[in-house]
Amino acid sequence: MPKPIRKAVFPVAGLGTRFLPATKAVPKELLPVVDRPLIDYAVREAAEAGVTRVIFVTSGRDAALRRHYRPDTELEKTLESRGKVAERDRLAAIVPEGVQLEFADQPVPLGLGHAVRCAREHVGDEPFAVLLPDDLVQAEPGCLAQMFGRYRETGGNLLAAETIPPDRTDRYGILDVGAGGMVPGGLADVRGLVEKPPPAAAPSTLAVVGRYILQPEIFAALDGVAPGAGGEIQLTDAIAALIGRQPVSCFRFEGVRFDCGDRQGWLMANVAFALDRPDFDGIGDELRALLETAGRRNQIGGAE
Ligand code: UTP
Repeated sequence: MPKPIRKAVFPVAGLGTRFLPATKAVPKELLPVVDRPLIDYAVREAAEAGVTRVIFVTSGRDAALRRHYRPDTELEKTLESRGKVAERDRLAAIVPEGVQLEFADQPVPLGLGHAVRCAREHVGDEPFAVLLPDDLVQAEPGCLAQMFGRYRETGGNLLAAETIPPDRTDRYGILDVGAGGMVPGGLADVRGLVEKPPPAAAPSTLAVVGRYILQPEIFAALDGVAPGAGGEIQLTDAIAALIGRQPVSCFRFEGVRFDCGDRQGWLMANVAFALDRPDFDGIGDELRALLETAGRRNQIGGAE
């Protein structure tokens, strides 16, 4: 049985151009989903799976992220003096218990593969996870915990996957797993992997989403990767280079993924997570009513 994975890399040095101007002063991973920054969901997901060392790969624009995770005893004291004990406790619990945070630097945003390579010294010679926090997965247990469970059977490299609409293949790494689709909970061997192919050239409609378990050999593979799609050093190209040398499998997780790097996906995540919050009861009802009214208005608008 492979050794349990303890380290997870969070590449967060991208420019977040799709969200400008919101991401000019606030990095994309700190945009809120309901009342918690996007990145907290991924850090909690990793902690739930058993990760104890979180490695953020950041650019020079990481002051807000560091501030979010730094304890603020002054603010905690102020909240306490105003009787806001629940709020104080929520602040104090931002970093999950037993989790240590580290920062690695990506001086220039040369792509996701390059960002992962920048974490090499922190990872060392052991398997690790990679989470892209803008892929937010609503699942119980979390997506990474599901993957860790399956990794005990597969070992090697394991990628989270889901089927996407055929006209969107040029936004994702697309998998070749031979014939047939994948059911939730299913595993498949990966035969090939292409970054952002046009629909006509895509080997399937099965896309890699932002959760990976990788072996340390990925770093040598990344060293050999030339800039690919979009002129960036692509992680998928390095994983593709491992096929045939190491097991590479994919896993159709159970749950719903929201692409929060995209405005529509982020809005949908906010609605889905708000409706799912038991402590949001009254607000949930008002939100539901608003959605119904807006839906009716759009139907009427569409008929005109
Ligand atoms: P995206 O492809 O979403 O790029 O990166 P982006 O720059 O964040 O956003 P857009 O497309 O300009 O709107 C996927 C993940 O990889 C990280 C991002 O921070 C995000 O978590 N990334 C990307 C890096 O850390 N470094 C890079 O050079 C590129």
